[in-house]
This record gives sequence, C-alpha cells and structure tokens, in this order.
Amino acid sequence: MSVDLTVVAQMRQLIQLLAKHNHAYYVMDQPTIADSEYDQLFHQLKALEQQYPDLVQPDTPTNKVGGTPLAKFTTVTHAVPMLSLGNVFNQEELFAFARRVEERLPNQNIEYDVELKFDGLAISLWYEHGVLVRGVTRGDGETGEDITHNVKTIRNLPKVLSATETAIPEFLEVRGEVLMPKLGFEKLNAANTAKGEKTFANPRNAAAGSLRQLDPNIAASRPLAFYAYGIAQCVPPHGQSTMSDSLAWLGQFGFEIGERHFVCKSIQDVQAAYEQINLERPNLSVEIDGMVVKVNDLKQQQQLGFLSREPRWATAYKFPAVAALTTIENIDWQVGRTGTLTPVARLNPVAVGGVTVSNVTLHNIGEIHRLDVRLGDTVSVYRSGDVIPKVEKVWPEFRLADAQEVHLPEQCPVCDSPVVMPEGEALARCSGGLYCAAQRIEAIRHFVSRKAMDIEGLGDRWVESLLHLNLLQNVADIYHLHEHRDTLLGIEKMGEKSVQNLIDSIENSKKTTLAAFIYALGIRGVGETTARMLANTFQTLEALREADLEALKKTPDVGDITAEWILDFFQAPHNLEVLDRLLAAGIHWDAPIAPTRQPLNGESWVITGTLSQMGRDEATQLLQALGARVSGSVSGKTKCVVAGEKAGSKLEKAEKLGVQVMNEAEFIQLMQEYGVLE
Ligand code: IVH
Repeated sequence: MSVDLTVVAQMRQLIQLLAKHNHAYYVMDQPTIADSEYDQLFHQLKALEQQYPDLVQPDTPTNKVGGTPLAKFTTVTHAVPMLSLGNVFNQEELFAFARRVEERLPNQNIEYDVELKFDGLAISLWYEHGVLVRGVTRGDGETGEDITHNVKTIRNLPKVLSATETAIPEFLEVRGEVLMPKLGFEKLNAANTAKGEKTFANPRNAAAGSLRQLDPNIAASRPLAFYAYGIAQCVPPHGQSTMSDSLAWLGQFGFEIGERHFVCKSIQDVQAAYEQINLERPNLSVEIDGMVVKVNDLKQQQQLGFLSREPRWATAYKFPAVAALTTIENIDWQVGRTGTLTPVARLNPVAVGGVTVSNVTLHNIGEIHRLDVRLGDTVSVYRSGDVIPKVEKVWPEFRLADAQEVHLPEQCPVCDSPVVMPEGEALARCSGGLYCAAQRIEAIRHFVSRKAMDIEGLGDRWVESLLHLNLLQNVADIYHLHEHRDTLLGIEKMGEKSVQNLIDSIENSKKTTLAAFIYALGIRGVGETTARMLANTFQTLEALREADLEALKKTPDVGDITAEWILDFFQAPHNLEVLDRLLAAGIHWDAPIAPTRQPLNGESWVITGTLSQMGRDEATQLLQALGARVSGSVSGKTKCVVAGEKAGSKLEKAEKLGVQVMNEAEFIQLMQEYGVLE
C-alpha cells in the first residue's frame, strides 16, 4: 500500500471512531471512552493532518465542535458561536503556543490569564435589563438547546443582576460552565444507591443528565453550580480591558468564577501555575481536566482572532493523559494470601498520568471474558486520581489475527495443586491451602488465632522471623519448632523466656476440640459455626475426610459451594500430607458432644432486640452448645426468634411468616431446662 493510502486509512478509522464517541458523549450523555482517551485519538488525527495537510478528509471533526442538539428542546442559534479550544499537553507544546502568540504580536508585552478548565457543560446565559431570560447549551457550537427552565434552578447563578457601584447593562451574554461539585455528586449517587436508582458515572454526566430534563424539578433537586468564564456580548460595552478584569467585573454581579485564578507575566509563570493546580486538583471542589490559558489583554485577543473554530488567543492546557493505549505482552497468574488466582497483564510499558505502567490487574477470569482480552491485544489503560491502573477496554480494531485467548491455568503456578472454581463463583483458587507457599502467612495467622489453635505466643513478629529463617514452610512445621531451640534463641530480641513461652503455648495447643481444629485448617467457607456443625455431624476427622458431596451438603450450615470447597480441600494430596503431620505431632481432642445430646441440632435461631439478662454473644453460645445455628436474618427456615427489648423488623417478619417467637424470660427458662444455664 502506498504511504498516502495508509495515512488515509488511518485517518478514516480515527474519524469513524471519533464520530461514534462524539455521538455517545454529546447526544446520548453516555461516554463510551474516557475524555482523555478521546483527546488522544483527536490529537493523533490532528498530528496526521498536520503532517499530511493534503490528505485532510472533508468530514474531519478537527474543524468543527461536535454534537447535535436533542430534538425535544427548542433549538436556538447562538448569536456569537460557542467555539472550541485547542489543546496542549506539555511544557513544550505550551511554549509553542506562546511563540505563536508572540510572533503575531511582535514587541508587545503579553500577560496570560489562567483559569481552571471546568469539566462540565458549556452554556450561554442572556440577561435583559439585568434579568435572566434565557439559558442555552453549547450544542454543536452554532445552535444549542433552550434550557432556560433548568438553568433558573441553579442556586449559585444570579437570576437578577444587582451591583452597588456598577450600572446594570441593558443586555449581557455570559458564558460559562455548569458543573456538579464533587461533594454534591457523591451525595446524589449515595442517595440514588439507597433508593435503588441508577448512579452517574461522573459529575459531568450527572450535570448533563440534569440539564437535559424537560421537567425543571429534576434539575432543581440536583446540586448544580455555574462558573462564569467569559462575556460574549455586552451593551453598552463593559469597558474592561483585560480578561481577568472582565471576570472580576462579572463577580460584582454575583457570578462565581473558579476557585483558582492567576494572572501570569510570562509563559514560565503559566507553567508554574499549571504545576500548582495539578497538585491542588484533588482538593478542589469541582472536577477539572486542565487549565485554560488566555491572552489577558482583550485588544490583543482581538488582534489574534481565530483559526478555524478555535481562538488563537487561548488554549486548554490539559493534565497528562490519565489513559493511554498499549499492548498486552503476557498474562501471569498471581496467587494471593487466600489462594485467589488473579490474572496480571504485563504491558508494553506506557506513561499514564505521569507514571509508567507495566502491569495491570485483570481481577478474574470473568473480567478477561467481559473485556475479551487476548494476548497481544491493544488496550486502553487509565488511572483516575491516584488509583491503581485499570484496563478500560480492548480495541478489537487493532487485534492481530493470531491473538491467543486467555485460559485459567489448571494448576497453581506456585504449588502445582489443582485450581478450582465452583460454578457461580467469580474467583478461581488454588486448592493447595495449607501447603501452598503463597498462602502460608495467612494460613499460619489463621491457624494460630484464638478461635482456632489458640497459640498465643506465636504473634506476627515471630511468624515473620520464622518465615525469614525458612522454619515455617507450612502450619505443620509449628509443631517441630522446639527442635530448633538454638536457632530460635539466636533471633534478635527473642530471649530464653519468650522462646520458652512460644514452645509452651505450642505444646498446650495440642489439646483442642475437633471443631477448633477443623476451623484452624482454614478451609474456604468454613467459619467457626460451620466447623462446629461439621464436627457435630461427622464426629471424627476420618469421617469428615471420607465424606462425599451429598453428605457434606446435608450438614446444617453447609451450602452447595462450601460443600465443594470442603471436598476440594480433602482431595488435595498436599493438604492431607500436612494434616497427617499435624496429627502425628500429637494434636488431639475429646469426642464432640454427640448430636443426641444436642436437642436443637441443625435448627436455625435468630436473636433480635436487646436482652437484659445476658449479652447476645452469651445467648448465641448457649444456642450453639445445644446444636443450633444462630443466624442474622429471619426466613421461612427459622425455627425460633428470641425477641428482646425494642425488637424491630425481624420480629415483624417472624410474625408475618408465622415463625415461633419467645421473649427473654421464656428463653432463659428453656436454657435452664436444657441444663446449660443455672
Ligand atoms: S474559554 C473560545 N474558559 O472548554 C472558547 N472555556 O474546549 C473560549 N471550558 O466547552 C472558552 N473551562 O466550556 C473557557 N475557564 C474556561 C473553561 C472553558 C471549561 C470549556 C468550554 C468549552 C471547552 C473548550
């Protein structure tokens, strides 16, 4: 293909993509890509056009503003078109902008007005004899939509102009941006979540969605704000000679301007202001996507005029792209402390928001399928604020024919145990549990915890040192630590006494209960209660080890998924090896209370309201000792609800479902009858 054809093909592809995203952004209020990504595509097209001016396509979006107004509002033609701004992204481009300005204004002193670039919706406001008569959206820059009814609901916007020392103009057209400040946006989304309504992706969409409502009550209920950034018409003329003075003049009438504003004597000062604003950005009350740099002198602005649809006297200085395109070189699977397998994409390193990104998490196999990521794919990676980079989307347009699909590994990359993922679960896990080195810290912490083996002496500091010395490959090694007494004594700050304490508490932990031991194994989904149910049901560890799926599912408190996790655990040979070593070390327990002595075995009870004679924990323990399961919510399966003082919705539900209810006195009496309370 000739160079020309390749360039044209690239331009066509970019134009098509931009048109698609423009429609989604301007017309549907549902952006499909991040703004910064749109800017990148736009920039790429512009760069191509600059390099090959003869090949510029007639329908290129680089010389029009974009977007068509919705049909449902009255359209209004702007008397003064609402134009666009050029962009610069770094110091070099900023200085080039200044050079272009200086070349057109030889031997003149140039000052710059620097404002926040609000990330909202541009509107135009008409005031006749000081009264707000009309508000219009930018639309495509030539014609916009009449949204007067909504604009009048914006609280910080003057509906009638008043000023003590300045005459009110006969006619005034103010330009500015409607935004939803960050705090209001968060509150709105929180309220919508609470009501089960849809939330907005960002403040810009929330503002746009609020203004594009036919019913002004909706806009009125939204926390919108208006920030003025210019005067399009004024009769009689306002008489100000600089941009900054004209904004201050607007301020007298009650218009709000941005919370940061600079007048810079040199372009170097502009750069310094940019760096300052970039740092302060997280603390600002509104979302901004950069700054706007304007030649301050209004006469100079006139002299400079416009090029195509952009002023020569102003430019947007955008913050570094928070999104960038790159390719996926490989995908590794990392094993987390709880055995979760997380796919991590290794990227061709790319700068995103000033930081080089070479790895990005893909969360889980479901996300890989959702994004349809293949090896070698081109992806956009973004960072918002300081958060971890994410893959936003895959660009199938750029996919190579032999791009390979990504599959979940069958074996754990750390310990080779089988990887399991029960149906309905999002996360895949290594079944190596006790054996897998990636999981050992978490496994050890859990194993020694109070409700498990209760080895008080083995705190985090010990665990860290022991791992460092390679004395703890897995939990079974705990019971061999006494064989390394000299090494333990050599550990800094661990004297004779603390070593002895450690060895004693390990020794004492050997006598336990079957329930605590099962819990200590850290089997996925097996908490304290489930462990107790398993112990009561199966009575011996051997029986539990041999249990099939059906028997496990029948155990009270064991759901279908947990049953599978338990089965997986006892099927992994490495886990059995650790288990045998633990038993060989002398861990033992008395036989659990037989189910026959547990009159409430398998029943589900709920405690609600405030009990006056005992705490809820104590009541729970009593019920559990009798074999009951204590649940947090009432359902048709609930056997009985113990209702204390001020019992609320749970009591109501129990009554509605016809579930048995008893008060505290009745409960105490029952516990006494069963002999668990005096
Ligand atoms: S002045 C001739 N000042 O940026 C255009 N625009 O790309 C003069 N914007 O949609 C525009 N903050 O709504 C100006 N402080 C500011 C701005 C600002 C945000 C928006 C404007 C327009 C876009 C131009």
